[in-house]
Amino acid sequence: MGTYQVRGGQGVNQILAAIRDGYRSLDTATNYDNEGAVGEAIRRSGLPRSAFFVTSKLPGKYHQYDDATISIQESLYRMGLDYFDLFLIHWPLPKRDHYVEAWRAMIDAQKRGLIRSIGVSNFEPEHLDRIIKETGVTPAVNQIEVHPYWVQERMRKADLERGIVTEAWSPLGRGSAALQEPMIKQLAEKYQKNVGQIILRWHTQRGIVPIPKAQHLQHQRANIDIFDFSLTKDEIEAINALSKPDGRVDGQDPNVYEEFE
Ligand SMILES: NC(=O)c1ccc[n+]([C@@H]2O[C@H](COP(=O)([O-])OP(=O)(O)OC[C@H]3O[C@@H](n4cnc5c(N)ncnc54)[C@H](OP(=O)(O)O)[C@@H]3O)[C@@H](O)[C@H]2O)c1
Repeated sequence: MGTYQVRGGQGVNQILAAIRDGYRSLDTATNYDNEGAVGEAIRRSGLPRSAFFVTSKLPGKYHQYDDATISIQESLYRMGLDYFDLFLIHWPLPKRDHYVEAWRAMIDAQKRGLIRSIGVSNFEPEHLDRIIKETGVTPAVNQIEVHPYWVQERMRKADLERGIVTEAWSPLGRGSAALQEPMIKQLAEKYQKNVGQIILRWHTQRGIVPIPKAQHLQHQRANIDIFDFSLTKDEIEAINALSKPDGRVDGQDPNVYEEFE
């Protein structure tokens, strides 16, 4: 489950509800100001740490080697954990050009046991190739924007060719127009599912790991109940065809987008 905007005491309760309904993979980031709430929900669940797959992310202001090293430690302290299952460079910020240093800091943090798997987010093929070439280490995951209006077949293939798992952020298009798409509504009727479930199934059948965010219980329950039906190849292609040239939810182009938080 994604946790952007899921914060504070209410956030802890919403994450706990998701855990009780079966969620084990939780995606947070230093930039979301909620690593504390996610860590608290994990502790209150009473489940062992090993039951969870916890992801957090390095903010752009900490890409330099020493800053990145400390930022990883501080994220762990905020969460009350002693390791991450997955840690990602949140954005490449190519104009600042420190992402290779950040990657080296993550490789070393992994060697020290602070992170099990290291990955990136919003990396384009040239950013992937550069860190692989300069360090010899391929990211396990690239977390990128993917939804029916921003299908990203080019990046899905680029990740696949390099042996990298693609995760989809805003997999439901951040609850926007994609959820009103008539063609997907028809599929929902056919399969007796809701539109969100059709979209999440489409991601998984493309080999992509979606991380939907849901604060409402009925959304949380629906989003995890997608493993008892299959879309046809033609239906997957039909959803792929909904992609738009300007389909990003917030216009964030990784080649130029700068997050300074
Ligand atoms: N790496 C990055 O740069 C990056 C960027 C953005 C996001 N992310 C991660 O990706 C996660 C997901 O992205 P997101 O939060 O932007 O958007 P999203 O998951 O695509 O959409 C979330 C919105 O959809 C609603 N929703 C959830 N399930 C639904 C369903 N079954 N039917 C109808 N509406 C439903 C949610 O409502 P309620 O919450 O009210 O239930 C919420 O308003 C984030 O939380 C974050 O962890 C990463």
